Amino acid sequence: MDKVILAYSGGLDTSCAIKWIKDNYGLEVICFSAFIGEVPDKKLLRRRARLAGASKVYIEDLRPEFAQDFILPALLAEAKYEGKYPMATSLGRPLIVKHLVKIAHREGARYVAHGCSGKGNDQVRIEVGVRTLDPSLKIIAPLKEWEFKSREEEIDYAKTHKIPVSVTKKSPYSIDKNIWGIAIEAGLLEDPNVEPSEDAYYMTQAIGKTPKAAQYVTITWDKGVPKKLNGKAYDLVSLIERLNTLGGRHGVGRIDMVENRLVGIKSREIYEAPAAVILLESLRALGELVYDREFFHYKRLLSEKYAELVYYGLWFTPLREALDAFFGRHKGKLTGNVRVKLHRGHAIVVGRTSPRSLYSEKLATYSAKDTFSREAANGFVKLWGLPYEKPHTRELQN
Ligand code: ARG
Repeated sequence: MDKVILAYSGGLDTSCAIKWIKDNYGLEVICFSAFIGEVPDKKLLRRRARLAGASKVYIEDLRPEFAQDFILPALLAEAKYEGKYPMATSLGRPLIVKHLVKIAHREGARYVAHGCSGKGNDQVRIEVGVRTLDPSLKIIAPLKEWEFKSREEEIDYAKTHKIPVSVTKKSPYSIDKNIWGIAIEAGLLEDPNVEPSEDAYYMTQAIGKTPKAAQYVTITWDKGVPKKLNGKAYDLVSLIERLNTLGGRHGVGRIDMVENRLVGIKSREIYEAPAAVILLESLRALGELVYDREFFHYKRLLSEKYAELVYYGLWFTPLREALDAFFGRHKGKLTGNVRVKLHRGHAIVVGRTSPRSLYSEKLATYSAKDTFSREAANGFVKLWGLPYEKPHTRELQN
C-alpha cells in the first residue's frame, strides 16, 4: 500500500483527515507533528492519531532547529510583514515542510498531506515548499477536497467513525502558536472595527492588569545572536521563551492589523509576539549604533523584501538564501548590550553599548568637548547644494 505523510496537529480537521484519506485514497497514513510551540501531550496526540487510523506517528521537538535556522535569519533580517507582523506562522511552515519531505523520503511515501484551508497563505507555503524540495511528491489537501460544509458535519463524521474529538470547548478563533508568536483570527475578529476581547489573547496580560512598575531587561548580543538576559546566558529557545514570559506579563507584543494575504484577501489578524517584538526592537537599536548610514538604510529596503518573500511561501528559494548572506555579512558588528524597558504594553529601548559602536560623543556633543569642524560642514553644504543653484551664481567662493 502506498503511504502518505500527514502534517498532524491533533485537532478535528487533521484527525478526520486521517480517516478520510484512508477511505478516499486508499493510503496508509503516517502522522507527523512538529513541536515548535507549547509542549504537547505526546501520549494523547499519539493515541488520537492511532484511534483515527494512523499506522505510525512521528512527534518531534523541532524548537532548536526552528530557532536556529528559521527565527534567527528572520530576526537578523528584521523581517516584519507589512512592517508589523514578525511572521511566526510564516516561518514555522517551511520547517514543517522540510520535515514532511524528509519523513516521506525515509518512509518511501509518494504522498504528503496537510490540513490547511484553501483561503490562507499556509496552503501556499506548504505546497510550494514541498514542490520545491521534491516535485515528485503528490500533495493531498483534504480541507480543499472533502464535502463537509460545517464543523458540525465534521463532528458527525468523527462520531460515526469513532474518531476522538477534543472534549474541551473549541476556541471561537483560529489559532496558530509557536515560540515566535501566536496568530489569532476568525470569529469576532472578522469585523475589523471590533476591538478584540481579552479572551482572544493567550500569552499577553491585559494592559490594565500589567504591573505598575516597569521592568528592565538587558539583552547581550554576540555577533548577531542574543546570548544573555540580564547577564545570564540562555540558549536561543530558552531566551525566546523567557522573553515571551517577561514581555507577556507586561502586555508587550500585541499586534492588531488588517493584512494583505497572498491569495488576494484582506484579513484582520491579531498577534502576540512578546519575544519577537523585544528582540526586533533591541536588534534595531544595536544596528543604529554600529552600522553606517548607507548600509543601515539599504538594509531596511531588503528587510521589507525578505518579509514579503517569506510570507509568500518562498523560503526555499535562491533569493531568500542570497538575502540571508546579505544580512549575515556584517553580523559581527551586532555585538553589545541593549537595555529595554517593559511597561504597560511597551518595549522601549532606553540604552545601548557596543565595542563596535560608531557613535562619537566628541562629534555629537553641543558642549565644550565638541571637536566637529564647522568649516568642513560649510564646504560640504555648499557642494551638496551646488547642482541646484542658478547657473550664474554657480561659482565656488570661500
Ligand atoms: N496570517 C498569518 C500568516 O499568514 C497567520 C496565519 C495563521 N493561521 C491560523 N490558522 N491562524 O502567516
